[in-house]
Amino acid sequence: MAGKFIVFEGLDGTGKTTQLQCVAAALRAKGYSVFTTAEPTGTATGKLLRAFLGGRERSTPWAAASLFLADRINHNADPEDGIIKHLSDGDIVLCDRYYYSTFAYQGTDTDLQWIFDSHFNCPEVTKPDACVFLTMDIGKCLARIHANRDSSAVEIFENTESLTRIRNRFADVFDMLKNRDNIVSIDADGTIEEVTNRIMTVLTPILED
Ligand code: TYD
Repeated sequence: MAGKFIVFEGLDGTGKTTQLQCVAAALRAKGYSVFTTAEPTGTATGKLLRAFLGGRERSTPWAAASLFLADRINHNADPEDGIIKHLSDGDIVLCDRYYYSTFAYQGTDTDLQWIFDSHFNCPEVTKPDACVFLTMDIGKCLARIHANRDSSAVEIFENTESLTRIRNRFADVFDMLKNRDNIVSIDADGTIEEVTNRIMTVLTPILED
């Protein structure tokens, strides 16, 4: 039986990566075979993207959008460890960020329709079974980001203005995709355990479907 593909998205600071690991542990405890992964990936393309995000490499929004897509295609199609391979093995694939991030982050400075088309017309970009979107007050997101890192590690998108712009962009994108993709918003304000339970509650029927 084919597995399920669940994407985690959320503003920086919402605890998305922690929650992904907690949900993976909860699913494994229920007996599921789970593969966790993330974008940008650890490949050469992903490293180039991280250099751009950290301001160490110049790029344009159009080039960045194309690189994120290329990284995503390799991430799907890798014959040994790709998303498509894991899904065909019956795994639950939990992915930290996916095309919704490109739509929200790169869509503002390019042409969103161009990014939609290049993704949706590509046979090697799998459509997720669900996207879990973690939401929280921007001030709380920033407080968490700064509490967890020294300032040199704070990336170019991590300030109030950018986070507000990106949050609004995610809202617009999700509205545009509401008839195409299965997106569930989760309140990320709470203890780690509370938020994991909220996510498990919405995922259970999707995984049993
Ligand atoms: P990362 O260091 O992985 O942290 P986190 O996901 O925990 O915030 O940073 C990922 C950064 O990459 C984040 O600032 C958003 C950006 N990004 C894009 O701009 N477009 C994309 O398509 C993806 C996948 C990420």
